[in-house]
Amino acid sequence: MTAPCGHRRYFDNAATSWPKAPPLASTMRRWVDLVAASPGRGAYREVQEATEVMDRCRERLSSLIGATHSNSIVLTLNCTDALTLAIDGMARHARRSGRPVHMVTSMLDHNSILRPLHGLESDGVRMTVVPVDQQTGRIDPDDVSDAIESDTILVAMHHGSNVSGTLQPIAEIGARCRHHGVPFLVDAAQTLGRRHIHIDAMNIDLLAFPGHKSLLGPLGTGGLWIRPGLEDVIDPVRLGGTGSRSDLPVQPTELPDRYEAGSHNMPGIAGLDAALGWMLDQRESLFKREQRVTEWMLDRLLAIDNIQIIGPTTPDLRCAVFSLTCDHLSPFELADALEAHDVLTRAGLHCAPFAHQTFGTLDRGGTLRLSAGSLTTNDDVEAAMDALATTVSQSTKVALAI
Ligand SMILES: Cc1ncc(COP(=O)(O)O)c(C=O)c1O
Repeated sequence: MTAPCGHRRYFDNAATSWPKAPPLASTMRRWVDLVAASPGRGAYREVQEATEVMDRCRERLSSLIGATHSNSIVLTLNCTDALTLAIDGMARHARRSGRPVHMVTSMLDHNSILRPLHGLESDGVRMTVVPVDQQTGRIDPDDVSDAIESDTILVAMHHGSNVSGTLQPIAEIGARCRHHGVPFLVDAAQTLGRRHIHIDAMNIDLLAFPGHKSLLGPLGTGGLWIRPGLEDVIDPVRLGGTGSRSDLPVQPTELPDRYEAGSHNMPGIAGLDAALGWMLDQRESLFKREQRVTEWMLDRLLAIDNIQIIGPTTPDLRCAVFSLTCDHLSPFELADALEAHDVLTRAGLHCAPFAHQTFGTLDRGGTLRLSAGSLTTNDDVEAAMDALATTVSQSTKVALAI
């Protein structure tokens, strides 16, 4: 496996994974170069094959999360699209019945939850943002219980933080939501494909995920699993042709067509399906490797002077998404210096402004983020950690010499 652009070491897997699953490229190429078919549109053999691939993709996703009805998986363009469908769809339905609407999220959540929630405030939807522990970033499930009010219709929270790598106690938060009868939407952008997720064991009602991160699929893919029955309280947010029930001038009510108006990203879905087929065969070893890389990177980072690691310093509370600050370099200077060593990282707020408010990193422009993926090589980890240690030590010498 080579690094992007020949020798560059990719540590921005929290944005999108690289390398992708081995069978992805040839599968996608076939759906671009050789097969013309839009699923559900027509009955010729190629369309039937496209429909079969799409069905298999839903089945593979279902088996990964422990779902029994594959039609409860709505294919979306990314995780944002899935979160918007759940949040806006539920708000739209509740407001139609004239009820007051309140939703709950946390300080560590991504703008793909915060922005839809803030966007609804002008429509009278209220929100509560639950605090997190300032060191680890962990949410206390009791704080979620306390935030739930009589008109709360949704609790929406991430499983893994894209800033601090913190893993949240999802099963416990879900149990509190169950107790109060409030649906629980989990943003698994950073975890599906890295860690085990079981929708029943973790008390999840709605699971939003990208196909292009740890599932090792292509950009432009994602999905939302909806607990059967909840579709009754989620209005579609996109209306239009589905290739089914074309006699109806209104959106079909059957899943998944209720939420899948418009032509599909067939090359992307075929690529995701191929990636899932490959990934499911070796998921246990991929999950174990992610845990080993998390421990290894954490050990190396904790041994570097003059940097501060954001979030948990025990491996079992985190995934391999690391944010840090450096005494003598801004996150942007550090990212530039690392790029000079061909190590690709990301500096800034990572679309999660409240997280930086919590960790005290807002004023310095955020953090430097290094995120490994399932297929990051040992050689890449060694090289990136060495480059970071060298860069930080040189910056310290320069600062002390001034
Ligand atoms: C925690 C979290 N949620 C949601 C998203 C949005 O995912 P997507 O880029 O697939 O829309 C991201 C993206 O980085 C994320 O890290």
